Amino acid sequence: MPIHEIRHPLIRHKLGLMRRADLSTKNFREMSQEIAALLTYEATKDLPLEPNRVQGWCGEIEVEKIAGKKVTVVPILRAGIGMLDGVLTLVPGAKVSAVGIARNEETLQAQTYLERLAGSLEQRLALIVDPMLATGGSMVATIDMLKKAGAVNIRALVLVAAPEGIKAVETSHPDVHIYTASIDSHLNEDGYIIPGLGDAGDRIFGTR
Ligand code: PRP
Ligand code: URA
Repeated sequence: MPIHEIRHPLIRHKLGLMRRADLSTKNFREMSQEIAALLTYEATKDLPLEPNRVQGWCGEIEVEKIAGKKVTVVPILRAGIGMLDGVLTLVPGAKVSAVGIARNEETLQAQTYLERLAGSLEQRLALIVDPMLATGGSMVATIDMLKKAGAVNIRALVLVAAPEGIKAVETSHPDVHIYTASIDSHLNEDGYIIPGLGDAGDRIFGTR
């Protein structure tokens, strides 16, 4: 199955805090980055390794290092910025590919306003980060963009996913694995995830 709900106790606890309407912007930001780091740990479990000879304290030894080109993290602006540092905590050498997509609140259609992608995408694991997978429009548009630019190894990290969004990604891009802290119940008539987190961008940027 390309959807992975990571039910780790630390994630469950932190997500429970994030669901509180009275959580401060500061704490919402912190939890968002912390869960992003925990999801990154899961999503990178099978990164290929290669042998590496180094000078150890007792002479030359063989260790391991991650093989190939560095990962690229792909935050979907603006709310994805709220997960970026969490990923970079574990993958500090990653290149950042910024994608600006906002959904039209009336039509719920995703509209692209920025595309600044890392080079050599065909050789990198692309880790898309966005707190919310709702209708899936923003995620599908981002995956379309990355594939058009050459990416072949794409994974998505989202804090909360709606069944509708999961289905949309699975239908358009069945090769893309999604790692989430929670599969929630459904979307309401305004396209918000229930129970969800509310408007994640507003909560991260303090603009609600
Ligand atoms: C939110 C969220 C996702 C998108 C999810 O961003 O961060 O990108 O909506 O909805 P979808 O699955 O129906 O496309 P928004 O468009 O509100 O922009 P923002 O990050 O700038 O606040
Ligand atoms: N975008 C959000 O920020 N929250 C939702 O519930 C849906 C889309």
